[in-house]
Amino acid sequence: MRLSRLCPKVSLLLAMVIFVLLLLSRVLPPTCPTPERSSDPQEVSMWPPDSLRVDPALCQANLSVAAHPDFAALPTHVRDFLLYRHCREFPVLQEPWATKCAQPVFLLLAIKSSPANYGRRQVLRSTWARERQVRGALLRRLFLVGSDRNPLQACKFNRLLELEARAHGDILQWDFHDSFFNLTLKQVLFLEWQRTRCPNASFVLNGDDDVFAHTDNMVTYLQGHDPDRHLFVGHLIQNVGPIRVPWSKYFVPTLLSADEYYPPYCGGGGFLLSRFTVAALRHAARVLPVFPIDDVFLGMCLRQQGLAPASHNGVRTAGVHAPSPRLSSFDPCFYQGLLLVHRFLPYETLLMWNALSQTQLSCGKKSGVY
Ligand SMILES: *[C@@H]1O[C@H](CO)[C@@H](O)[C@H](O)[C@H]1NC(C)=O
Ligand SMILES: *[C@@H]1O[C@H](CO)[C@@H](O)[C@H](O)[C@H]1NC(C)=O
Ligand SMILES: *[C@@H]1O[C@H](CO)[C@@H](O)[C@H](O)[C@H]1NC(C)=O
Repeated sequence: MRLSRLCPKVSLLLAMVIFVLLLLSRVLPPTCPTPERSSDPQEVSMWPPDSLRVDPALCQANLSVAAHPDFAALPTHVRDFLLYRHCREFPVLQEPWATKCAQPVFLLLAIKSSPANYGRRQVLRSTWARERQVRGALLRRLFLVGSDRNPLQACKFNRLLELEARAHGDILQWDFHDSFFNLTLKQVLFLEWQRTRCPNASFVLNGDDDVFAHTDNMVTYLQGHDPDRHLFVGHLIQNVGPIRVPWSKYFVPTLLSADEYYPPYCGGGGFLLSRFTVAALRHAARVLPVFPIDDVFLGMCLRQQGLAPASHNGVRTAGVHAPSPRLSSFDPCFYQGLLLVHRFLPYETLLMWNALSQTQLSCGKKSGVY
């Protein structure tokens, strides 16, 4: 029975109440409670020592950088980087479940993501980054995220990440602006987190959330290596130097680096490293000034430690090219022997994962799945 037939006066009153509520909800600003921060005492790392420790909320801009004659003409994000370069401690907003590394982890997937990339995270959770055992080797997943620089957006995304953290326990989020020039900060904070929270993971895959990683092949490859020896492999980049074109995403002014060449490094889309090398990078990262391009910075850290990155032919962060124009570069048969390919859309990741999971995938001369 309809309400208006039941009692017209009550329904009129009800309508008015709803109207007022709607009006109020539009007038009142959205409330954004700051997410609860973990108060676990273990979280306080031993670096930097107390004498150097600053309250992250109080990390002030280094205004003496602005005195440099070149400073004023630099793009905003570069100036921003220079002003806050020394700030290395930020509160953790979300932490993975404490059980993440309770069992001996063979391969820790540490995936750099941004708050808004929910779709990418969701697809990875059910495809190549699914937590599982591969031939007895335990895989664990972690998304490394910062906060949105727009406070209203941050409010929304922090809530989203809180929900994801609760449902999946795979979010490691810090309270700093998630931006391209802060990727090194994310990397450095991850290295420090790993020291206390997942020190025994034998190997780490560091990569982006838009790659396709053949994690089964990675396990096969890594099982032939000793986690306590140096390993750093990926798409090796050598003999390149800073880009001096101010409108480039990768622009690095001489004020930041006067060198003509960067040390050898591996493309940041994805690379594999042993726990020995994770520790070495952490030591180097503590003494080197932060450099804004994260993969180059790791090359600098390796050099500081007297180590070198190596090339693995199965890591294609520059994408793959079909050997013949008649074949699709999306053919799973190309991917069968690879470790990692950049870049994939979420639906492509799902399709590729599904195709590679077919036990009867036959890669003869005339097999084209797509
Ligand atoms: C601030 O910048 C100046 C000039 O670049 C530098 O010498 C100094 O070490 C910086 N201070 C901090 C705290 O990083
Ligand atoms: C990095 O994050 C810090 C903290 O949120 C912020 O102050 C700084 O501007 C960010 N730097 C860049 C280059 O985005
Ligand atoms: C890591 O392994 C060492 C021995 O290899 C052990 O003493 C230590 O308790 C382990 N740490 C964690 C957190 O599992």
